[in-house]
Amino acid sequence: MRRVVYLAGLTAAFPSRMKLRYFSLAAGLLAAAPVAAQNAALNARIAKLAAQEEAKVIAWRRDLHEHPELGNQETRTAGIIAAHLKSLGLEVQTGVARTGVVGILKGGKPGPVVALRADMDALPVTEKNELPFASKARSTYNGQEVGVMHACGHDTHVAMLMGAAEVLSQVKKDLPGTIKFVFQPAEEGSLPGQEGGARLMVKEGVLDNPKVDAMFGLHINAQTEVGTLRYRPGGEMAASDLFTIKVKGKSAHGAYPWLSVDPVVTAAQIVMGLQTIVSRQTLLTEDAAVVTVGMIHGGVRNNIIPEQVELTGTIRTFNKDMQRKIWEDIRRTATGIAASAGATAEVSIENYAPVTFNDLKLTEKMLPSLRTAAGGADKVELQKAVTGAEDFAFYQEKVPGLFVFVGGMPKGTDPATTAPHHTPGFRIDDSGLTLGVRTLATLAADYLTSKK
Ligand code: NI
Repeated sequence: MRRVVYLAGLTAAFPSRMKLRYFSLAAGLLAAAPVAAQNAALNARIAKLAAQEEAKVIAWRRDLHEHPELGNQETRTAGIIAAHLKSLGLEVQTGVARTGVVGILKGGKPGPVVALRADMDALPVTEKNELPFASKARSTYNGQEVGVMHACGHDTHVAMLMGAAEVLSQVKKDLPGTIKFVFQPAEEGSLPGQEGGARLMVKEGVLDNPKVDAMFGLHINAQTEVGTLRYRPGGEMAASDLFTIKVKGKSAHGAYPWLSVDPVVTAAQIVMGLQTIVSRQTLLTEDAAVVTVGMIHGGVRNNIIPEQVELTGTIRTFNKDMQRKIWEDIRRTATGIAASAGATAEVSIENYAPVTFNDLKLTEKMLPSLRTAAGGADKVELQKAVTGAEDFAFYQEKVPGLFVFVGGMPKGTDPATTAPHHTPGFRIDDSGLTLGVRTLATLAADYLTSKK
């Protein structure tokens, strides 16, 4: 997860189209025989094995937490993963998308291919928690000396997927098909000019050979109670786009503005104009959207009107049509306002991550499995759309995928009092990890056995 995310409970009213979508999901569940019910015996074994793994998974997580590595540098982490997967008898590929590891587990019978993904990277954050396994690691990031910390919980993701690999390898005789364990580097993004993360894994063919039919991933959450899963059909986490607007005018002495075409005033008008895109021009009952200007750069001195001002910002959307429309709205608004001032605006927009879009059919099909894993429908909650982005979206562009949130907050805690992701006080209660192991293993086993 690439931005600070606050996950509130789902009590607010949903827009009518979403309500309909959920209603039809519920109706579909009544009509189809739940996958999970067909696999009761296998699921019970998975639950038992996951419980037996708990101490190991927590020990892995704490070791990884103490030794975090920044994106594209996860060599120690990769070594631990590869050794574990090899010890389970899996076919292992290393150096995928730089430091990624892929393990292939072949079931006892032929069948489809399912992939499970965990991200491995830590962040340039200095840990402030007093824990026996707190990170003291330091590194350099973008030329700066920084502390390094698993401040988004990717250490838990690695540990949970290592646990799921061990659980599934113990029931492989009964699995019809193949499971790919995808340990991905650099989810938080690579340095400028450097490729990495899910985009590079896809480019290097992680979804081929054997070809993946469906993919599952999860994210621990510090504001969701231990024992709870959250999911959202459709757009769950936002597409993230970076835009840059270069406003070019004409420089002059600040005392003689009539001799200038003032790009500072024009840029200010553009900033205000951009505010009307979401508030006045976007169908907000369909999905949320965000347009934020995060940087304004221009000028060198108080009494010189500069020639150019540069605006940089981020766009967050939950569906492709809205994304395309907002791109056009930004271009039209910026160039139109600039033209009215006699200036020009050059707009460039770059996609960082697509929408984390949970395939509607796959979500409907796997909901009973989430409920089985969580031990009851009341432990599986609907998630509000999250305006943070997640590069799991790159896999979901190619194959149907489902991404869920797992609780990592101690029971009975007020989420408002817990440190957000990406901050020095971020903490995870690792008693929540067994549910993650069970969720990954149950999703994979149910998906494979339902495709017979
Ligand atoms: Ni994250």
